[in-house]
Amino acid sequence: MENAGGANGNQWGFKANEELKTASGITVRGVLNSLLENLNKNDTRPLIPLGHGDPSAFPSFRTASVAVDAIVHSVRSARFNCYSSTVGILPARRAIADYLNRDLPYKLSPDDVYLTLGCTQAIEVILTVLARPGANILLPRPGFPYYEARATHSHLEVRHFDLLPAKGWEVDLDAVEALADENTVALVIINPGNPCGNVYTYQHLQKIAETAKKLGIMVIADEVYDHLAFGNTPFVPMGVFGSIVPVLTLGSISKRWIVPGWRLGWLVTSDPNGILQDSGVAFFHSISPNMRMGDYLVLSESVYTTVVSLQQ
Ligand SMILES: Cc1ncc(COP(=O)(O)O)c(C=O)c1O
Repeated sequence: MENAGGANGNQWGFKANEELKTASGITVRGVLNSLLENLNKNDTRPLIPLGHGDPSAFPSFRTASVAVDAIVHSVRSARFNCYSSTVGILPARRAIADYLNRDLPYKLSPDDVYLTLGCTQAIEVILTVLARPGANILLPRPGFPYYEARATHSHLEVRHFDLLPAKGWEVDLDAVEALADENTVALVIINPGNPCGNVYTYQHLQKIAETAKKLGIMVIADEVYDHLAFGNTPFVPMGVFGSIVPVLTLGSISKRWIVPGWRLGWLVTSDPNGILQDSGVAFFHSISPNMRMGDYLVLSESVYTTVVSLQQ
C-alpha cells in the first residue's frame, strides 16, 4: 500500500476529530461553504452574495478614515511589534470602558475589559471557562449558531429556549425557568438580535435579569450589534442591570465600524457587586498570549483612537 505508514507500516496514527466536524457543520459559514462546494462549476452566471454584509465586496461600506489613519500610524510607529499582556493593552481597554460607560449607571474600569480576537473569541473564551463537567447553558432559538458549535466543542450541554415572534422575539422566560437546573451556568441573549433583528425594551431586559438572578445564573449579552438598532426601541445595554445579576457583555468593532476583518473584540464583566470575582471566574486565564499577533496589538491601540474619535 503506497500510503501506509505508522509504527507497523499499516496505518497512520492520526485522524480527524469527528466532533469538530459536527461543530463546524452547524456554523453559518459551514453551511455557506457546503452550498458553495455544491454549485455547478460549469454555470458561469455571477454569484450575488445576499447572506452576509461584506465591506470589501460592497464599496459603499467604508469605515471612517480616522480609523484607517490610526492603523497606518500604529504600523509605522513600530511600537506594537511586540507581545501584549494576555488581557490587552491599557489604552485600548480604557477606551472600551469609556465607550460602554456612556450608557451605564455605574463606571466600568479598564480591569473589567478583556480584549479578544473579535467577538468570536470572546464567545470561545466564555464557553471554555464555563464548561465544567455536567454544566449546561441556555441558548436562544433562533440564534447565532457559533454558540452551539463552540459549546459542542467544549462539551457544554446546550438547552434551547424559544424567542417569541408574536412578542417581538422576546425571550420565553417561562421556558427559561423550566429548562434551568442546578447545573445551568448562564443564559445567552443577542441584542440587537441576530437573526431576528429584535431590540429588547428596558422592561424586558430587566425581567431577564430578575429571572437569571432567581435561577442563580449569569447573563451573557452578545451586543456585537450594539446601537445598530432598527425601529423605535432604543438599544439598552444589558450591563445596565449588572447590579441585579452578573452580566458578561461581548462586543467588537466588526459591525458598527464595518471592519470585521480587523478582528478586534472585547469581553466585559458588568458586575458592580463583584459576584464573578467572588466565584473565581477569571476569563483572561484562558486567552492564550500566543494568539496575540503584532497586528492585533496595533489594532488594540487603534481602537482607542477610533472609538474616541468617532464619539466626538
Ligand atoms: C450575534 C453575533 N455574535 C458574534 C459575531 C462575531 O463577531 P466578530 O466578527 O466580531 O467575531 C457575529 C457575527 O456575525 C454575530 O452575528
